[in-house]
Amino acid sequence: MIDQRMEKALNRQLNAELYSAYLYLSMAAHFQSVNLAGFANWMRVQAKEELMHAMKFYDYVNERGGRVTLQAVDKPPSRWDSPLAVFENVYQHEQKVTSLINELVDLAVEAKDHATNNFLQWFVSEQVEEEASADEVVQKLKLVGDDPSGLFMIDRELAQRGSTASAAPTEGGAE
Ligand code: FEO
Repeated sequence: MIDQRMEKALNRQLNAELYSAYLYLSMAAHFQSVNLAGFANWMRVQAKEELMHAMKFYDYVNERGGRVTLQAVDKPPSRWDSPLAVFENVYQHEQKVTSLINELVDLAVEAKDHATNNFLQWFVSEQVEEEASADEVVQKLKLVGDDPSGLFMIDRELAQRGSTASAAPTEGGAE
């Protein structure tokens, strides 16, 4: 059985992961509307991964005999000034998610909940990748600046990103 404070915090994180999915889907729609299909693809894949993250929390709470309670998901923004502004937003958002995961780990340690601490370690590693992949695109966009041919090259590159979420094992695995 899981500690009530921990259960509440895990449910909050489930909501934060659903918000991430919603945010990235909104970014996908934005890119679609400005005809950057490769960027839109990257965001769609990212949104799927966030859903997979949310389901990991869902499954874990149930597995520990806790109760999943869903809350309203906030409305994400729908407009950005440039592809760089979008990816800076992604990077910033992932840094915030990292701090949320770290707070959960602190709580698990404080509650001496070793199972939850162990469960959360997958997310600790995942956040390193999440921040790095967002920052990689930020840096590329900064390099190309206002050059449209550079932007289309990045768009073509981001079109290659395939979904790993569906191939992921239920516990751990995909990023
Ligand atoms: Fe679920 Fe992007 O962290």
